[in-house]
Amino acid sequence: MTIRHYLQFRDLTREDYAHLFERMRVIKDRFKRYVAYQPLLDRTLAMVFEKASTRTRVSFEAGMYQMGGSVINLTTGDSQLGRAEPIEDTARVISRMVDLVMIRTYEQARLETFAAHSRVPVINGLTNEYHPCQILADVFTFIEQRGEIEGATVAWVGDSNNMCNTWLQAAETLGFTVHVSTPPGYEVEPARAGLVDASRYREFADPAEACRDADLVTTDVWTSMGFEAENESRKKAFAAWRVTDRLMWSAKPTALFMHCLPAHRGEEVDATVIDGPQSVVWDEAENRLHAQKALMEFLVLGRTHA
Ligand code: CP
Ligand code: NVA
Repeated sequence: MTIRHYLQFRDLTREDYAHLFERMRVIKDRFKRYVAYQPLLDRTLAMVFEKASTRTRVSFEAGMYQMGGSVINLTTGDSQLGRAEPIEDTARVISRMVDLVMIRTYEQARLETFAAHSRVPVINGLTNEYHPCQILADVFTFIEQRGEIEGATVAWVGDSNNMCNTWLQAAETLGFTVHVSTPPGYEVEPARAGLVDASRYREFADPAEACRDADLVTTDVWTSMGFEAENESRKKAFAAWRVTDRLMWSAKPTALFMHCLPAHRGEEVDATVIDGPQSVVWDEAENRLHAQKALMEFLVLGRTHA
């Protein structure tokens, strides 16, 4: 069987996503009813964290145990990766011992090198360029709340970072539109975002214009992990790219607010928005668990309907 990795959103097709969103629904429903579902009995997931995490760590670890498998957690500091063992060698070794690998690292190229030397599926748990597991959960959350995402308008306010790039790939794959507003100098780089069809997004100088009539408003931190040296200059550049009540009023009255978390209230989002009635951030965070269980099931077992 050919190994399928999940390194960026466009690695799966629209049909794969239709299958996954249905599996997420089934898996979540069983979880809520305390019905055990253990299709990955005796399988092992290795997780490699070269950056910090709360949600990704807990959702993958809890998810794999719930599906009957076990988990090994490695960080740069407590593995030979921190002592310069080549990533290729690490991939060759780990993938002979486990069934699935999740990695959170810096450059996408490092993740791709690992995958090229792995005997088992590799999942992107966040790189500088992409965060596909988060958008998988975000789109599922939107579908749960609003039925479907095809044809919808998503407003992205803030940095053209890993989250923004992945929303743009998702728009191409699933057929919706993204309205992006970034400060000058932080615009989308289509090649870095891995875009094929640039017609799926529009850029706006004014964040309120990007939010106009949107079905979903979403943002993320001004400074992503790995870019901390730019923190002070980013605070100045991004000051007007905060999701406020005024921006939410520009969107549809039914618009949702999402944030991948962790959030900084008073920076990229006001507390009145993230803690307000349109915010679905806690469902969004919970859905990481259900989304990744469906993803792991798919990568290890293929399209099952159990
Ligand atoms: N959203 C997200 O990936 O959170 P963590 O950094 O806590 O894993
Ligand atoms: N863009 C953020 C997301 C954190 C989950 C970062 O990369 O730090």
